[in-house]
Amino acid sequence: PASARSAPGGEVVVGGVGLAEVADRFGTPLYVLDEAEVRARCRAYRAALPHAEVLYAAKAFLCSAMADWVAEEGLGLDVCSVGELRLAAAAGFPPQRMLLHGNAKSPEELRLALRLRVGRIVIDGLAEIPRLAALAIADEPQRVLVRVLPGVAAGHHTAVRTGVTGQKFGLSIEGGDAAEAVSRVLAQPSLALVGLHCHLGSQITGVEPYLAAIDRMVTLLAEIRDRHGVQFPELDLGGGHGVPYLAGDPELDLADFARRVRERLASACAEHGLSVPRLLVEPGRAVVGPAGVAIYRVLAVKHGTDGRVFVAVDGGMSDNPRPALYGARYQARLVGRSSQAEPCEVDVVGRYCEAGDVLVPGAQLPGDIRAGDLLAVPVAGAYQLSMASSYNLVGRPGVVAVRDGRARQLIRRETVEDFLSREVGR
Ligand code: LLP
Repeated sequence: PASARSAPGGEVVVGGVGLAEVADRFGTPLYVLDEAEVRARCRAYRAALPHAEVLYAAKAFLCSAMADWVAEEGLGLDVCSVGELRLAAAAGFPPQRMLLHGNAKSPEELRLALRLRVGRIVIDGLAEIPRLAALAIADEPQRVLVRVLPGVAAGHHTAVRTGVTGQKFGLSIEGGDAAEAVSRVLAQPSLALVGLHCHLGSQITGVEPYLAAIDRMVTLLAEIRDRHGVQFPELDLGGGHGVPYLAGDPELDLADFARRVRERLASACAEHGLSVPRLLVEPGRAVVGPAGVAIYRVLAVKHGTDGRVFVAVDGGMSDNPRPALYGARYQARLVGRSSQAEPCEVDVVGRYCEAGDVLVPGAQLPGDIRAGDLLAVPVAGAYQLSMASSYNLVGRPGVVAVRDGRARQLIRRETVEDFLSREVGR
């Protein structure tokens, strides 16, 4: 996190709290969130996009405190399950500021969203329209967006490129499904169509894909205006804003994004004689990723016959599946003790029963790295714990928030008792 600074004895201080100190107090593996950094990132979005609506994508990471911070900083919330809906609602997040996503929304999800009166539901397929329309009531039409595939490929891995045809999300422009969905939604008295949505992908570091998407979306908006005589008040460009994981990595420049997106939207709309819709964005990773750091304890150091050194820690692919799933790259650094030893190249591996459980291949760590040492892995706030599993019946780590020199636990570690308590038959 931005607040991280080195202190004597190899300690690293985040939010005014030493990481070795929190590791000793709460145990490892542990996820530490810098509250001030999350809030600062929310504020940076509000400042860069003062006329837009910024909705935090809860799938990156959600807990009650996170919902509070996001709500207090004036952002909305993108949710995609009953779990996220209920957690946010229980935390007191205003449902009006929520938006529900999903390519396979269950009847329960739709009913709960309608009952809570969420601000918007994003229609992801033709079959969803009559289902949702039948559950909603014409007296109080549910506001909806239609999710469109702009045909722009962007994102760090094919698994997260959702703006193109040939994958499960959204409605295609060329095939005519997007226009058909708009016609069908407009015919439903219980649904109020407020705009179009697209989400290109995740970990996008350039602005160009968004500009290309704007062109496609605005062309479609003009076609809709010509056919139906309607103009929508909103255009949602989804999330995907990339952050640096390693020194020298590119990142999406928020000010540049804000300026060029605003300009392109204005010029594209002017070209078609459309009024400019209000912009919505749904960043997840860029709000919470850099605010988190994972702390692991080294359990074993093994020297392989081919000269490789394996530094095995007490977490791995189940609390952070990103390296195994996408080949995602991270840094690891020693915390809690200083070392004068020459750096050497090691593979930081996890404790799970797969050879692919490599957290940080080719990490540079002091040559005297040994069992008992603590390692910190920065930029750990997004899509790690939210995608964590309890593989090998190892409990998921807890989460601690740091702020102004104080640490408080937000989520406790999952225990073996949690597993045993789910055993209800044999
Ligand atoms: N909006 C929609 C509709 C989304 O599907 C997503 C992410 C977001 C917003 C937020 O995207 P972000 O700003 O966080 O990139 N597990 C993958 C990332 C999956 C993203 C899924 N959708 C990873 O760890 O790289």
